[in-house]
Amino acid sequence: MLKNISPTGTNAWQKLQSHFNQVQSLHLRDMFAQDPERFQKFTFKLNDTLYDLSKNRITEETLQLLTELAKETGVPAAIESMFSGERINATENRAVLHTALRNFSDEQLEVDGENALQEVHAVQQQMREFCDKLHSGEWTGYTGKRIASVVNIGIGGSDLGPKMVVEALKKYQKPDLEVYYISNVDGTDAAETLRKLDPETTLFIIASKTFTTKETITNAETARGWFLNKAVDREHIKKHFVALSTNIEAVTKFGIAEENAFRFWDWVGGRFSLWSAIGFSIACALGYDKFEELLRGAESMDKHFREAPMKQNIPVLMALLSTWYTNFFGSQTHAILPYDQYLRLLPEYLQQLLMESNGKSTDRNGTNVNYQTQPVVWGAAGTNSQHSFFQLIHQGTVLIPCDFIATAISHNPVGNHHALLLSNFFAQTEALMKGKTADEVRQELEQKGMTGEELENLLPHKVFAGNKPTTSIMMKQLTPFELGSLVAMYEHKTFVQGVIWNIYSFDQWGVELGKQLAGTIEGELLQGKTEQHDSSTSGLMAFYRNNK
Ligand code: F6P
Repeated sequence: MLKNISPTGTNAWQKLQSHFNQVQSLHLRDMFAQDPERFQKFTFKLNDTLYDLSKNRITEETLQLLTELAKETGVPAAIESMFSGERINATENRAVLHTALRNFSDEQLEVDGENALQEVHAVQQQMREFCDKLHSGEWTGYTGKRIASVVNIGIGGSDLGPKMVVEALKKYQKPDLEVYYISNVDGTDAAETLRKLDPETTLFIIASKTFTTKETITNAETARGWFLNKAVDREHIKKHFVALSTNIEAVTKFGIAEENAFRFWDWVGGRFSLWSAIGFSIACALGYDKFEELLRGAESMDKHFREAPMKQNIPVLMALLSTWYTNFFGSQTHAILPYDQYLRLLPEYLQQLLMESNGKSTDRNGTNVNYQTQPVVWGAAGTNSQHSFFQLIHQGTVLIPCDFIATAISHNPVGNHHALLLSNFFAQTEALMKGKTADEVRQELEQKGMTGEELENLLPHKVFAGNKPTTSIMMKQLTPFELGSLVAMYEHKTFVQGVIWNIYSFDQWGVELGKQLAGTIEGELLQGKTEQHDSSTSGLMAFYRNNK
């Protein structure tokens, strides 16, 4: 069990507070100038990925105190509790074992009286066999044609993770099989996707942990209707619909054959589920072997996370940095900036992972926290983002710690594009760190021949304060293995943050109220029932009724 703590009441927190007062005005430019070893001191490597923390506003003492905070808040014990299957998701009374999904050992891991690893490996075998049949052409549609399109219907964790991975690893995609994702209950999503497809050659994957999510079931019913419109006989559903779920009863009720259900367990959280059967569309897109490489990459991060001392533990350090900025610098947002077109969906994926997990204000004691928890996560791929919001990161009034992510080798070595891309990556992190002083600006303007009032007027606008923290993550190449490791790193960072903030990271009660109210309003819109609402909600509903 996770112990109940008061992070702000720990000795380490108090020490960090006075340390912050001493170091907050230090400038990264000076810290680099004073210590030629700074890069070596704050850089960590796992497999072929480098995590450069040196452009963060930290000293060796900061890291020392932050790791003391991790120890005092019980992070090492919490890590062990998670891996060993304790019910650390206390508000749902569940274990948290997404790590079991990428555990290739023959360890015994008993959950609810069952050997979890054995069960995981059995579903993985089922997934492998289905994928092989799909790729060899042995699995056909009801008219005997080969499957050409796979459509994953899911939302949240049953959509974002698989979609992000398939996009990131597009270069590895099997030929002759297109993969699509339908998630939004807005009919446009289904309509625009189905328009491109042929029912005879399409396989639908209905991905829903609970199999009750309104959006997913509505889209699945629409897909089934579209399919039967041509196939007519419900018997044919068997060849065209599979399900990924913990709720096999609801799956079969929907009309999907039990042998086409790929199961997982309630100890896999939705936003941590891409490694489970929920990753089936990944295996379809890339082939099962590549999916397994992804899992093995995650497994290597799991081992590092479980075994490395706090001071060298990459996910722990990433979480501590976030605590440092959120709780001491008062920073309220965090930007994810992949300098890699293939990783452009990563910010969206991490939004759910971090914000649904740690967007909480009630602590594990059931009381309101009196400190900040999860900052807003956002971002977009570079270099495009440089031409939209970077201005604010450089010269705005808010402090935005950023994760820059890139690869040394491009999958598409077109001309000198990659060198240009990386020049921007390096230049941005350097510029954010160094800034540009008034003296430097003056010199630059004078060199251009500018003087007097004109120079003085322009000068303040061209000054960059710098001292903007960035973490640079560089992989050798974007492979399934390295991606698996990176994503697992962010999962563990999410967990450690929650432990330190004394909150429960694995529930999401905050999404329930909207769902409940939508259910009531749906009855009003579709069946003409009337309920009491505030004047705004009633007014909006009236506008809809009068204009539809
Ligand atoms: O947004 C709430 C949520 O429960 C997420 O946590 C989850 O990933 C998503 O809905 C989808 O749930 P399901 O897989 O059960 O359809």
